[in-house]
Amino acid sequence: MSNKMWGGRFSSGPDEIMEEINASIGFDYRLAAQDIRASKAHVSMLGATGILSGETAETISEGLDQVMAEIESGQLQFTRALEDIHMNVEARLAQLIGADAGRLHTARSRNDQVAVDFRLWVRDGVDQIDAQLKQLQVALAEKALTHAATVMPGFTHMQSAQPVTFGHHLLAYVEMLNRDRGRFADARRRLNECPLGAAALAGTSFPIDRHKTAADLGFDRPTGNSLDSVSDRDFVLETLAAASICAVHLSRLAEEIVLWVTPQFAFVRLSDKFTTGSSIMPQKRNPDAAELVRGKTGRVIGALQALLIVMKGLPLTYSKDMQEDKEGAFDAIQSLSLCLAAMSGMIKDMTVNEDAMRKSAGAGYSTATDLADWLVRVIGLPFREAHHVTGAIVKIASESGCDLHELTLGQMQAVEPRVTNEIFSVLGVDESVASRVSYGGTSPALVTPRAQWWVSKLKS
Ligand code: ARG
Repeated sequence: MSNKMWGGRFSSGPDEIMEEINASIGFDYRLAAQDIRASKAHVSMLGATGILSGETAETISEGLDQVMAEIESGQLQFTRALEDIHMNVEARLAQLIGADAGRLHTARSRNDQVAVDFRLWVRDGVDQIDAQLKQLQVALAEKALTHAATVMPGFTHMQSAQPVTFGHHLLAYVEMLNRDRGRFADARRRLNECPLGAAALAGTSFPIDRHKTAADLGFDRPTGNSLDSVSDRDFVLETLAAASICAVHLSRLAEEIVLWVTPQFAFVRLSDKFTTGSSIMPQKRNPDAAELVRGKTGRVIGALQALLIVMKGLPLTYSKDMQEDKEGAFDAIQSLSLCLAAMSGMIKDMTVNEDAMRKSAGAGYSTATDLADWLVRVIGLPFREAHHVTGAIVKIASESGCDLHELTLGQMQAVEPRVTNEIFSVLGVDESVASRVSYGGTSPALVTPRAQWWVSKLKS
């Protein structure tokens, strides 16, 4: 049997393989709510403009409500022979209300229909991600407030560099996530134009009101060019680009958690709720959630790559290649959402081993810069020279196997005679972090108000 929706000029139905490669209902059933919402806006406009009688529009709209109710209750069985969500919905509508169902597609095509449905879905996804990003920011900022004065080693090249505070470190992620939210918000602003009414590609001869459907669906305005309206998937690409960068940020934090929970670091402890055991090694507590947040980054970035490649050679306007836009995006947004939920849980429940952090913060001559700065500030050495002198002092400490503060004054004076006892006051990790008061620095005197500022900004 040829297709009921478009089979007029066909004498046979599709090959089994054709049906399989062509159908999208296996994944675009997720657009059901958006599809029905957009169809209702369309039919209400058709009624308001007199393209359909008010009565017909009403019958169709009520029928659509019923189809939605059947989908929500799991009653409606989708069929692959009907290809996609759009035709499955319309076919069921026809069973419910009869021939009038065929009037719903007046002044519309599946090309603008899928474009509007998917925009609505992506917009909902962006809103959901934004809310979750905010929750994670709150969890990080609150933890940062608790640990505004907890010292830890700051690293460059994964080598101890200078002591920092744990609160400062966590707030670095709050900043990153805020930029992520900005990128999602930008994408949302640009995607919030309504392609419905572009019809197949050229617009329509019916006197439709695109401003009305755009407003009904919460869009800022209708899209400006019908060809672009059915060809554009920038809104997915931009969202996936924002999602990819965000996933990379989560992955970096996840990697740090994986390091911090090792017995070698032992900086933090994850709750039992976010760790797993080993089936063979009874002592193990594995940070699987953090590892999976790190691991899922691949599929989010993969979805962006895949869609960029799908789109790169497509002529205007719609080509069926574009049906490949959905699965990756569904998966990416769902994965990112799960990662955000897992990360929020881990951060909220995480406990901090302040002793281990403090001990490690002082290792590796981490206050050598403080010593050099003292030489500049107090005896007026040029920084380059102070760096050299400090290097020589570190060498003595390293050769005698002790920390900087364990050297005698005599040992330091052998390198630079003008050094006084006062130098010992800058060699501690607390003194070191307290001295970093330049704007955006790690001093608890700055981290506390910054964390407070974030908490109140995020919660207001
Ligand atoms: N299932 C299709 C998609 O996702 C809907 C649009 C079909 N349009 C067409 N001209 N065949 O892209």
